[in-house]
Amino acid sequence: MKAKKTYKPCDLIIYGALGDLSKRKLLISLYRLENANFIEPDTRIIGVDLHDIKNTGFVEIARKSLQEFLHDGIDESVWERFSARLSYLKIDLTQMDQYRQLNAVIDQKSRIMVNYFAVSPFLFKNICQGLAKSGILTENSRMVMEKPIGHDLKSSKEINDEVASVFSEKQVYRIDHYLGKETVLNLLALRFANSIFTTNWNHNTIDHIQITVAEEVGIEGRWDYFDKTGQLRDMLQNHLLQILTFIAMEPPANLEAESIHNEKIKVLKALRPITSNNVEEKTVRGQYTAGYIKGDAVPGYLEEDGANTESTTESFVALRVDIDNWRWAGVPFYLRTGKRLTGKRTEIVVYFKQLPHNIFKDSFRELPPNKLIIHLQPNEGVEIEMLNKIPGIDEHIKLKKTKLDLSFSDAFKKSRIFGGYEKLVLEAKNAWHHYKDTPKPYPAGTWGPVASVALIARDGRAWEE
Ligand code: BG6
Repeated sequence: MKAKKTYKPCDLIIYGALGDLSKRKLLISLYRLENANFIEPDTRIIGVDLHDIKNTGFVEIARKSLQEFLHDGIDESVWERFSARLSYLKIDLTQMDQYRQLNAVIDQKSRIMVNYFAVSPFLFKNICQGLAKSGILTENSRMVMEKPIGHDLKSSKEINDEVASVFSEKQVYRIDHYLGKETVLNLLALRFANSIFTTNWNHNTIDHIQITVAEEVGIEGRWDYFDKTGQLRDMLQNHLLQILTFIAMEPPANLEAESIHNEKIKVLKALRPITSNNVEEKTVRGQYTAGYIKGDAVPGYLEEDGANTESTTESFVALRVDIDNWRWAGVPFYLRTGKRLTGKRTEIVVYFKQLPHNIFKDSFRELPPNKLIIHLQPNEGVEIEMLNKIPGIDEHIKLKKTKLDLSFSDAFKKSRIFGGYEKLVLEAKNAWHHYKDTPKPYPAGTWGPVASVALIARDGRAWEE
C-alpha cells in the first residue's frame, strides 16, 4: 500500500536506542506507524548507544521489544519493511569526536534529519555540543526532547540555552507524549464542542476535580534515571499538569498551537504557589514497599535492581492545587500519580455541586453529586453518573445512581487509538527541597500512602476508587 503523501522521508536518529524509552515506547510507536502506512518508504531509523553491537544486534533487540510491548502481535510483512529501516551506530555521547561517524551515514539532501534525545537530560548538552562539532547540522535538522528538561530552573535554562545555540526554536520539538494521546486531545472536543459542558464548566456548577494517573509498573530497571528524577518530575510536572491545563483553560480562539499554548500558560500562572509554609498540608509523597500486583509478589522501591537503600525519592505524589482566577475560585483540583498502584488507570473525575434541597429523602439522605468521569486509559471513554427513578408503581419515588456510558472502542469501532508517541513522532520542583519529610511508605498494589486519603478528607471529600 502507498504511504500517505504528507510525511517526508527522514533519518530518525534515536540517541539512547537501547534504553527504556526507545524499547518500550519509540520502537513500538514507529512499528505501529509502519503498520498504518504512515512512514515514507525512504525513511531510515538509526539507533545510537554505547554498547558494541552490530546492525543485526539492534534489529534483534527491536524484535524482542515488539514481542514484549506490542500487545497486538507482530505482522511479518510489516516487520520485514520496518526492520529493513533499522541500523545502529556505537557512539559514546560524552565523546565529542565520536559524533563524526554520523557524517558518513546521514543524508540531508533527500531526507530530514530528526535527532531524538531518548536519554537522560544530563546528556542533552553533550549531544548538542557533539552535533555542533561534527558540523552535520543544517536547517533541515530537527531535535526532539522530553521531560525532565533539567532538575530545576537553573539547569533547565542551561539546557535550553545550549539547545538554542545549536538549533533554532522552530527546529526544536519539546514533547509530552500525553498530548499525543487520543483521549487527551478529545478533552478539547469534549469541552469546546459541547454546549452542555461549556456553560457549566466553572465554580458555579463544579465542586472539585480529581486527576489520577495510576501506574501498575514500577521503575522497570530505570533506577539511575528515576531515582534522580522522582514521580513529581517524571509524571506530575508534565503529564498531569498538561491534563490540568486542558481541563482548566479558557476557550482558545482557534486550534492553532500558539492560541492553545497562550491559554495554558494563563492557567499555570494562576496556580497558587505551594511554599514551605503549606507544603505539608497540600502535598503527600510516598514510596512503595514490597507488595502484590495481580497476585504476583513485587519488590519495594528500595529493593529494586541497583537501588540505593537510603533513597528518599518519591514514587507517589498527591497534591491539592488551587487556580486563582475567576472561573475556578473555590474549586480545588486534586492530583495524584504513583508507580506500583492497584492498576493502570488514568482518569479525570469532575464532581458537580450538590443540589441545594433534597426532595428524595426516601432514597438518599443526601443526594449524591453528578460526576463526569473521563477515562483516558485504559477503556477510553466518558461516563456521566446521574440519578434516575427506579421504574415501579410504589407510592414513593425511589432513585438509583445510573451511568450514561460512552466507550470509545464501541463508538469508534474502526478507528485505531494510538498511544501518544505515534502522533508526536510523526510531527516531529521546590518546597520539598526545604521540607525535609521523607516519602511515606505504601505497599505495592495499593492506592498509595494513607496520608493521601487524609489530604482530600481534610476538605470533606474522598478519592474516586
Ligand atoms: C513516562 C514516564 O513519561 O510516562 C514513565 O517517564 C511512565 O515513568 C510513562 O511509566 C507512562 O506513560 P503511559 O503512556 O504508559 O501512561
